[in-house]
Amino acid sequence: MEPRPNARTGRYDLVTPMIPCKDEIMAGIEKILMTGSYILGPEVAGLEAEMADDCGTADSVGVASGSSALFVALAVAGVRPGDEVITTPYTFDATMEAIVLLDAVPVFVDICPEDLNLDPDKLAAAITDKTRAIVPVHIFGAPCDMDRIEAVADEHGLEIVADMAQGYGTLYKGKSCGAWGRMSTISFYPTKNLPGIGDGGLVLCRDREDAERIRRLRGHQTVRMNDHLYSGWNSRLDEIQALAIRVRRARFADEQADRQRIAAVYDANIPAENRVRMPDQGRGMVTAHHQYWVRCRDRTALAAELDAAGVDVAIYYDPPLHRHELAEYCRVSGELTEAERAGREILILPIHAALPFTEAERIGAIVGRHFA
Ligand SMILES: Cc1ncc(COP(=O)(O)O)c(C=O)c1O
Repeated sequence: MEPRPNARTGRYDLVTPMIPCKDEIMAGIEKILMTGSYILGPEVAGLEAEMADDCGTADSVGVASGSSALFVALAVAGVRPGDEVITTPYTFDATMEAIVLLDAVPVFVDICPEDLNLDPDKLAAAITDKTRAIVPVHIFGAPCDMDRIEAVADEHGLEIVADMAQGYGTLYKGKSCGAWGRMSTISFYPTKNLPGIGDGGLVLCRDREDAERIRRLRGHQTVRMNDHLYSGWNSRLDEIQALAIRVRRARFADEQADRQRIAAVYDANIPAENRVRMPDQGRGMVTAHHQYWVRCRDRTALAAELDAAGVDVAIYYDPPLHRHELAEYCRVSGELTEAERAGREILILPIHAALPFTEAERIGAIVGRHFA
């Protein structure tokens, strides 16, 4: 597909990848409409089975959103009021909000400059006798170093609930990053690599009992664990979302291959120190490139060059979460120098399944010239 003359290159094109899926989705919606099974029916059950299979977990549970997934997963991991939960400040608000909504305290630890993920070397210093869990976030689709995070968690008896909202398709040691940690949470928000046509989320569970507890909580039933009673509420996934996600899932591998091809074009133009670097490719670490970022001291100049060429770019997490109003309920461990720097320097380029390859080459050349 060639770019239209004078058209801007948007950060997302949500519609084009839906076109080949349209007939199947419309036929599925018609079937759902006439069966009357609108919420938590066979499509949700099918999606749960497929996702657990893809990601190598014992079970998975569909819920209302990625935010809701974090909330129920942290509850089922036993997070109680006053507990501390270690996470990154360089993430979307939802990661922090879920912890705060459980009346627990997010504790921010700095990130690595290479992959913008939680720095495993800085975890131990953040642990107190109140620490209950660690929430690594596979940011922009790059895998966290789960072996090193698990080693710290095991040593201190902590739970791991990974925020995998941006990490479907991300591999760690050649397997889905969802296979690490006690639970991982997914978002099907329409801009995600595996999207729905509305809100949706899912919790991947290594332990079937956790999945059963989440099924209770999402349907207004209470769960009692470790002398604490957790209230249920509505966090159900509807059938139309599950249907659309399943249709897109069947095309995921092709779309992911297109994203990797675009990333390879950008990689060829951008110096290694200005883009994602993973600690050890030999360990089967593969980023899903949910976003493609470039680090740039003069971000404003590069953004202006791209804007003049009709290319939309984005800035995320500037400032990082420890500067958010909710930080009043959070704690900071050590200096957050790299998170601050990422907030100032990272620029997001377009990468999506419908981005024409020639357009990726044009964008890559502009960015390459900027660094030359
Ligand atoms: C890292 C991260 N966590 C959680 C969420 C929340 O997902 P949702 O929008 O489905 O609630 C998002 C979504 O943007 C996210 O990027």
